[in-house]
Amino acid sequence: MLFCLNDFLRSVANTIDVVETDIFGVPTNHSKRIAYISSKIAVELGLPIQDVFDLISFAILHDNGASLKVLHDSLRGDSKERLSLIENMQEHCIIGEENIKHYPFLNTHHNIIKYHHERYDGSGFFNIAGDDIPVMSQIINFADTLDLNYDLRNVKKSSSFEERIVDFIEQQRNKFFSTQIVDAFFNVIEEDNFWDKLSNQVIEAALKEDTPSFSKDLTYEQIHNVTKTFSKIIDAKSQFTQAHSAGLADKVERMAAFYDINHEDKMKLLIAADLHDLGKLAVKNDILDKPGNLTREEFEEIKAHPSVTRSCLQEIKGFQDIAEWAGNHHEKLDGTGYPRGLSSNQLDFHSRLLACLDIYQALREERPYRKEMSHIEAMTILRRMANENLIDAEIVKDIDNIFREER
Ligand SMILES: [Fe+2]
Ligand SMILES: [Fe+2]
Ligand SMILES: [Fe+2]
Ligand SMILES: [Fe+2]
Repeated sequence: MLFCLNDFLRSVANTIDVVETDIFGVPTNHSKRIAYISSKIAVELGLPIQDVFDLISFAILHDNGASLKVLHDSLRGDSKERLSLIENMQEHCIIGEENIKHYPFLNTHHNIIKYHHERYDGSGFFNIAGDDIPVMSQIINFADTLDLNYDLRNVKKSSSFEERIVDFIEQQRNKFFSTQIVDAFFNVIEEDNFWDKLSNQVIEAALKEDTPSFSKDLTYEQIHNVTKTFSKIIDAKSQFTQAHSAGLADKVERMAAFYDINHEDKMKLLIAADLHDLGKLAVKNDILDKPGNLTREEFEEIKAHPSVTRSCLQEIKGFQDIAEWAGNHHEKLDGTGYPRGLSSNQLDFHSRLLACLDIYQALREERPYRKEMSHIEAMTILRRMANENLIDAEIVKDIDNIFREER
């Protein structure tokens, strides 16, 4: 399938944005700003166009390792403080590098995310110095350091604020940053409206206009490798869902074999399983991990997650079925589900299958308010739901047949 990397990246950028919103309370557009600044410097340095494209992808993904809940648990303070605390943890570089291993970059690169906090003088996390640091990592580090130290959304050209930033960069020449990158950036800021493009209102459009477009012919297996990565980022969000999407994909695979579902639909279902809870990245952990009853407002927030999933996925060409099935995973046959309240004649077999398996998978996992259930306990609940015409009774029987052996 011809897979448009830009579509996918845009949807990823939006996802990373919602993670930021959850962690910091406001969308900071941090990743998009880093991507924009990095692409400008790369062009100035004369990097080949495919590398510029890859660099934009790396920049958008540079803090993907920060969605991990363990990294946030100990954090207190306001958004800016929390952002710099996470940036000060080496783990987010290692996890981030590992996570994007299967991303379909145009060229091959090594350790770009791992070394995105290395400084030119060797005083970064891994003490790599000078041009031993990949140039893409150096560029990301430059942009990241600026964005963490200054509020780049509000710089006006020829203002004292711009002067202070320029002074800081000058002081860090051959310390944090290489001379080459410093000089390239000084050329970049001569461009008209450079600083204006970094504002929250303009950054998205600026990035779109300045991003070269690339599609790549990928098999569904290759796409699934990429979406598996994102399922890990989604699952890592809460301690209770560490294996939720992966477990669901496993069960989808077993059921697809049982029903002899054709290859293309099976792969689409697996991708839908990987990404079905994408929208949960936007839900606060305080709500996801709450041990007691949820308030109405909190439940409303949780109920929005399949809509977020759908709207992210439907932007990707070729993902229409995937967006549909993933977006329907909390719908019920009698119309009482969410977010759309669809009813049985609007829910196809694949949507029903994913919905049943999602419930089964969730019941077999621990939750803040209960222990994990055995197969028999989970089946009691599934059967009751089938009797109430909430989920498909035939599929429930088949789940029982296939997973009965498991305790
Ligand atoms: Fe970082
Ligand atoms: Fe960052
Ligand atoms: Fe869900
Ligand atoms: Fe789920």
